[in-house]
Amino acid sequence: MSDFAELHFGGEVYKLPVVEGTENEKALDISKLRGQSGLITIDPGYKNTGSTESAITFLDGEKGILRYRGYPIEQLAEKSSFLEVAYLIIYGELPNTEELKKWEREITYHTLIHEDFKVLLEGFPSNAHPMGVLSSCVTALTAFYPDSLDPVRSKNEVRISIVRLMAKLPTLASWAYKNEIGQPLLYPKNDMDYCSSFLRMMFATPAEDFKPDPVVVAALNTLLILHADHEQNCSTSTVRIVGSSHASLYASVSAGINALWGPLHGGANQAVIEMLEAIKADGGDADKYLAKAKDKDDPFRLMGFGHRVYKNFDPRARIIKKAADDVLGKLGVNDPILDIAKKLEEAALSDPYFVERKLYPNVDFYSGIIYRALGIPTNMFTVMFALGRLPGWIGQWKEMRENNEPIGRPRQVYTGYNERNYTDLSKR
Ligand code: SDX
Repeated sequence: MSDFAELHFGGEVYKLPVVEGTENEKALDISKLRGQSGLITIDPGYKNTGSTESAITFLDGEKGILRYRGYPIEQLAEKSSFLEVAYLIIYGELPNTEELKKWEREITYHTLIHEDFKVLLEGFPSNAHPMGVLSSCVTALTAFYPDSLDPVRSKNEVRISIVRLMAKLPTLASWAYKNEIGQPLLYPKNDMDYCSSFLRMMFATPAEDFKPDPVVVAALNTLLILHADHEQNCSTSTVRIVGSSHASLYASVSAGINALWGPLHGGANQAVIEMLEAIKADGGDADKYLAKAKDKDDPFRLMGFGHRVYKNFDPRARIIKKAADDVLGKLGVNDPILDIAKKLEEAALSDPYFVERKLYPNVDFYSGIIYRALGIPTNMFTVMFALGRLPGWIGQWKEMRENNEPIGRPRQVYTGYNERNYTDLSKR
């Protein structure tokens, strides 16, 4: 196969080099196109446009493949821990025993946050959405750790900035929740693992010796692994483009949290549960809502279905669906909306509208059902997604800075007025 493409335009022929990845993905390198031909490309939503070359995550949307640094998600979800996967995504290799112990110890001893965050939290009204609180608190970390403002000056500053963010996000997330419900804030416990300490900060009160259910801890560990990275999705692309201006890691991740919040992206897990509860309240008629989703005049979308990349199945959805059955069984939870979800899925998977458009359940379709079973409140679901996606945001930001990628500044096609003269107010 030739290693270039030819573009015929204006009587000229332009050769565009073809870039090939380690999984035989091919891309046209158009980095010199404008200088040679005066042409730019346009691709709303970047559906056909690659923004970078990355060695972190590989997806194959047709085959439903997802690998972090070459390791299949199915193996990592079954055998690894979230902190081990975070290390893999950020530093490129699975840690050895000593490296993992050091990583876990560093994170354990950086989970505390400055007491002044309590003043910041008290400033939010009780109905503030935890995602807005979380992104504000992550930006506020720049005030408490000024050496994080441009950590790329030294590897030590990068490492400590990464460790602080990995360690403090669970504390910030649980404090946002406790502040919302008016309960006392709890401090992390160093003798508990990452997931157990987070669950304790979320659900315990100072008066009790809380021990999380091992089933819940294991399910949370799996869910965080499944969300850890997903190549150039909307929020990760946001982190990369903000970071490309040499904004700090904390400022870039705060922007990523806000991008994830949207209901078309990470906010879908909350929207799925709200949709299922609305269907249940309306009599549980899945067919009625499938018809609404297909009606072009109806803004209703089947939340948790469809994906920009996966066009046969989302491998994470398969793992989460099995985990949902397992966790609800072990916890003895009988959630009627799970039945509605399964009925919706079965109907959609045989409906031509969904089959033709390759709309399958995505990672968000079943995750909300597990979060509910674990006792996580609905408006914290996307916060859980952010906790999981943090290593991906960090790893992609780090890769972008280490590769000295240029500041992101897309071009456009102008469609406004041609030149015209100013008219005095009296003549308008
Ligand atoms: C995540 O990118 C990632 O990797 C994201 C993510 C990650 O890990 O970071 O995987 C996490 O964001 C998962 C997606 C969560 N969002 C939802 O569940 C919201 C519902 N889904 C959609 O809004 C939609 O499917 C998207 C946003 C996920 C994908 O949208 P695309 O690729 O831009 O596709 P599209 O909007 O152009 O839709 C193509 C067609 C359209 O119909 P036609 O114009 O061809 O007639 O499919 C239809 C759409 O109307 N369609 C749906 C639908 N999703 C697409 N119709 C009904 N219900 C849906 N959910």
